Amino acid sequence: MESGGFFIAIEGIDGSGKTTHSKKLVRWLNKHGVKSIYTKEPTNGDIGRILRSLARKKSVDPRVEALLFAADRLEHLNKVIQPYIKKEYVVISDRYVYSSLAYQTVTTSDPEWVKEINKFALKPDLTILLDLEPRIGLSRVKRNRTRFEEESFLEKVRREYLRLAEIDGLKIVDASRSIGEVFQEIVREVAKYLKNKVI
Ligand SMILES: Nc1ncnc2c1ncn2[C@@H]1O[C@H](COP(=O)(O)OP(=O)(O)O)[C@@H](O)[C@H]1O
Ligand SMILES: [Mg+2]
Repeated sequence: MESGGFFIAIEGIDGSGKTTHSKKLVRWLNKHGVKSIYTKEPTNGDIGRILRSLARKKSVDPRVEALLFAADRLEHLNKVIQPYIKKEYVVISDRYVYSSLAYQTVTTSDPEWVKEINKFALKPDLTILLDLEPRIGLSRVKRNRTRFEEESFLEKVRREYLRLAEIDGLKIVDASRSIGEVFQEIVREVAKYLKNKVI
């Protein structure tokens, strides 16, 4: 089946299930004959590596970090997202521009500027927000926490995500349910969007 190229972003706070569901969705699409690839932000490229190392530092200039996220995103777009869309893949990105619009808006308190530096980010055809209480998300994440994985910080990020979802019409999925239930809703939504594209 041909999808004609389709771009889906999966968003949400840490522990909301982004990686779990992005990978499940890619497997599900491939199984159903739709060429699909998993990709993520921060990327595994040079700028993504810097970002991962900065996340472990105690204090970082939030504007420097916001610019690096935007730069990493542009590289991601040029090197992975757009080439695969051209090859008619369904591209599933585990985090994308709404991560910056939420997290970097909280760290910089400057939503307009964060939007401006991300103006080159191609709009996904569908963005799914896995919504979850930070307390639950953090209880699912067992790795060492980074600067971003603090409950009070994530409360603000969650509010920002929900505010953006309201304005921009993101698909909000309640991620507090079981993996199976959450995935079922994601598949329903994706199938709806691909219905007219997938032959
Ligand atoms: N709905 C769910 N219920 C219970 N555990 C979940 C659920 N979704 C994900 N998990 C588990 O929580 C952990 C974090 O999930 P993950 O997909 O890595 O989240 P994220 O990528 O958003 O940080 C993993 O161990 C995963 O198996
Ligand atoms: Mg993840």
